[in-house]
Amino acid sequence: MNIAIIGVGHVGLVTAACLAELGHRVVGLDNDADKIAVLRAGQTPFHEPELPELLAKVTGDGSLTFTNDLAEAVAAAEVVFVCVGTPPLPGGGPDLRFVERVGADVAEHATRELVLVEKSTVPANTGQRLVQVIAREQERRGGDAPAVHVASNPEFLREGAAVADTREPDRIVYGTSSEVALQRLREVYAPMVEAVGCPVVETDVPTAELIKHTSNAFLATRLSFINAVANVCERVGADVQTVAEGMGHDARIGPAFLNAGLGYGGSCFPKDVDAFLHLSRSVGYDFQLLDEVRSINAGQRQLVIDKLSNELWHLAGKTITLLGAAFKPGTDDLREAPAIYLAHQLLAEGAHVRIYDPVALDGVADEVPDAELVHDPLEACRDAHAAVITTEWPEIAGLDPRDLREALGYPIVIDGRNALDAKAAVDAGLHYHGIGRGTVPGSVA
Ligand code: UDX
Repeated sequence: MNIAIIGVGHVGLVTAACLAELGHRVVGLDNDADKIAVLRAGQTPFHEPELPELLAKVTGDGSLTFTNDLAEAVAAAEVVFVCVGTPPLPGGGPDLRFVERVGADVAEHATRELVLVEKSTVPANTGQRLVQVIAREQERRGGDAPAVHVASNPEFLREGAAVADTREPDRIVYGTSSEVALQRLREVYAPMVEAVGCPVVETDVPTAELIKHTSNAFLATRLSFINAVANVCERVGADVQTVAEGMGHDARIGPAFLNAGLGYGGSCFPKDVDAFLHLSRSVGYDFQLLDEVRSINAGQRQLVIDKLSNELWHLAGKTITLLGAAFKPGTDDLREAPAIYLAHQLLAEGAHVRIYDPVALDGVADEVPDAELVHDPLEACRDAHAAVITTEWPEIAGLDPRDLREALGYPIVIDGRNALDAKAAVDAGLHYHGIGRGTVPGSVA
């Protein structure tokens, strides 16, 4: 298949590389000329495990190429995937102007019958809007404009595991009312379905769009649920990790996504929860549960400030070390990262903030110019008043609590990811505060 991917950000680039690996001829397009130049020079514009090797392979054999020219990319394509950004608007809904632009541009430049597939996270009913945009453009072009069929094929990849998730998805979802689109999507994914044996859900466009919304909103709800449970654990002297383990053995619940901590961040969950809430309100249903999910998530970050203040009273003039900046391990993405929020809060209180991260410090320099950046975790803790574990990188979770005790000026550790062995931390003499670990002898909630 000849495939064009419009927007080579995290989703688009990984999708492009994995579809090329399946044997398709793929062209990746972006209106960011610098990004295309970086990709053409053989570099990867962001940190993502396995991606540099995969890109080297599929660009090396010519199955993946890059261009800035939409007309050129669309001319040869049988299937065009829309992977452009849908950034949040101040009111909570996503900004869909890029999606609209792509719909119109593709309809304008189509030279043969093609399928336009939404992959960006978009609210239900965006598909209908695309049909309208395409019809408008085709009417302008006149009677001989080739057909453009619309489909939704949401992605579920996680940053840091994006290549593995795309190569071996838990499921593939096709939403369309067009038989041509359905056949082509089946053809695109046939080698993957054959190799991995993953389930395929075939449905209409709005249902596919909702599957994406609800998957992310449900996972975010699960995280806020366990974080709320952690708050109760702290008050009754229970251990949230053991509670989660006990719950997770129930086959109906399962063990994944039950780690209490600083809450979710990243480019998807915060934006998608807002967008789903906005969508449900706009169609007349007030999905209040999602409001609560957001507020529990926000509370987890404030909890760290409260725990620090309980130990140190005033934070002004104190040195606080944040261990980890990325919103989770395996990525250099700082979007909605709890560490960035905390850095700004602490600086506003007059604290001196030091930050360590194994890959994300370049971005931190732009986001938090007043923070001191340190390339070694123990050096970052040297003589500090307290350390906060904000990302559970192996470089951080693997620290020996005795070394932390030795480095810190005051032995205070707020473990926002429950990454350390609490007992070992207490035995090493740390004032150890986990999240919802009320039963660790010697630890303080
Ligand atoms: C998420 C979805 O998992 C993915 O399917 C979708 O396509 C995009 O959004 P991602 O944002 O990359 O992926 O991160 P994910 O690994 O899902 O983690 C999201 C957030 O939840 C992170 O901030 C992580 O630290 C947090 N998290 C996750 C927890 O706090 N506890 C957990 O048990 C799991």
